Amino acid sequence: MVTSSELPHTHYSPPMAKFTSRTNNKPSLFFSDGCLFLGGAFSALLLIWVFYSLPSNFDTSLSTKNHAAVAPTCKTSTNPVPDLRSDPPEPTFYDDPKLGYTIDDTVTDWDQKRKEWLLHHPSFAAGAEERIFMVTGSQPSPCRNPIGDHLLLRFFKNKVDYCRLHGYDIFYNDALLHPKMFSYWAKYPVVRAAMMAHPEAEWIWWVDSDALFTDMEFKLPLDRYKDHNLVIHGWAHLIHEKRSWTGLNAGVFLIRNCQWSLDFMKAWAGMGPQTPDYDKWGQTLRSTFKDKFFPESDDQTGLAYLIAIEKDKWADRIYLESEYYFEGYWEEIVGTFENISERYNGIEGRVRRLRRRHAEKVSEGYGDMREEYLGEAGNGRGSWRRPFVTHFTGCQPCSGKHNNMYSGDACWNGMQRALNFADNQVLRKYGFMHPRLLDNKVTTIPFDYPNTNSKP
Ligand SMILES: *[C@@H]1O[C@H](CO)[C@@H](O)[C@H](O)[C@H]1NC(C)=O
Repeated sequence: MVTSSELPHTHYSPPMAKFTSRTNNKPSLFFSDGCLFLGGAFSALLLIWVFYSLPSNFDTSLSTKNHAAVAPTCKTSTNPVPDLRSDPPEPTFYDDPKLGYTIDDTVTDWDQKRKEWLLHHPSFAAGAEERIFMVTGSQPSPCRNPIGDHLLLRFFKNKVDYCRLHGYDIFYNDALLHPKMFSYWAKYPVVRAAMMAHPEAEWIWWVDSDALFTDMEFKLPLDRYKDHNLVIHGWAHLIHEKRSWTGLNAGVFLIRNCQWSLDFMKAWAGMGPQTPDYDKWGQTLRSTFKDKFFPESDDQTGLAYLIAIEKDKWADRIYLESEYYFEGYWEEIVGTFENISERYNGIEGRVRRLRRRHAEKVSEGYGDMREEYLGEAGNGRGSWRRPFVTHFTGCQPCSGKHNNMYSGDACWNGMQRALNFADNQVLRKYGFMHPRLLDNKVTTIPFDYPNTNSKP
């Protein structure tokens, strides 16, 4: 499988556009079930209560013990510890032989099926409405670029770091799940299968192999997306008015694990190379989006088409995020790392509680604390906030055949710098850092760093 980086995607920097979230009446899985919803809302409180009221040697795997009484009550759904062993005998969608995992299999009533599964697995119900499952991957064969596999490893390590810091699960797929859905189309069968494999997750977050987290603290503002099923970095006017195929980027997207998404992916994948309509779609997409310069139907332009042309059908559930780097164009980002580090160090030098040494596990709290000091930082282009996701569009780390727009050095140096910039945020908790972003060497971090009085 090859990610969208295998395509000579161009990209540019559209102006920041405010996008108001449209309200609609999506029947929410959780809001329709008061019990589950309340369970989620009170789980934090109950967590505290549970730890206060249980004897220290109490076995928290309540649901395993109460197997016979697996009735989905509020009480069991608030069990804060996911039970990784319990799979009650009551039939779920997994027992339906007609229900398949491939992109060609039709699923109906998925929302109900997921809900039933959650009712049988109450330990996963608490927090399910916010649960994110990250999916990424690369091709089944070795990279042609001699350092390609090394780069992919570092890109993957970065995603694992981000997931560990925020308690997300991650799946790396390197098998071509549909033999004809190659290159940038390969991700849809993976996302489709992941939805079936992870009914406990509300969101599947696809992140291309050539994208990395350059702000390890930032979290997706899920509240903003509560009425939407697909979130993508994009700019409405570029899609609707300019009809530009780069009005969005399909390399990173957040898609809700629900029936709408299955239907949408079916429509989306219907433009792919596995269908007899592939050539026809190539022509349609090219004549609709005049700046598309290659004849093949691609997922990114296909998505732009569904938003622009089939807009009554889909667009009101698609959130075009442009207020922060949901995925950002590397070329406008990689030059800003040093100045950003300086600003962050400046803040930490002044604020003792931010520079206090701490366990990696409690890092999220420090991210929250830091927000107070980032009010002026802005977001996106020209900002001194750490860019959330840096995407090396067109650099093609695996094949090495980067877009001619860029020099190889710009790509490789940019990746190295971004990877080390991100790694510094991780290694900090282990007591080390890369003092120079282009150099993989590390030094130890002095106590009370970066207080100006502490000696390196
Ligand atoms: C970094 O900061 C310096 C000094 O303030 C400034 O001259 C330079 O333009 C900044 N670089 C970038 C890429 O913003």
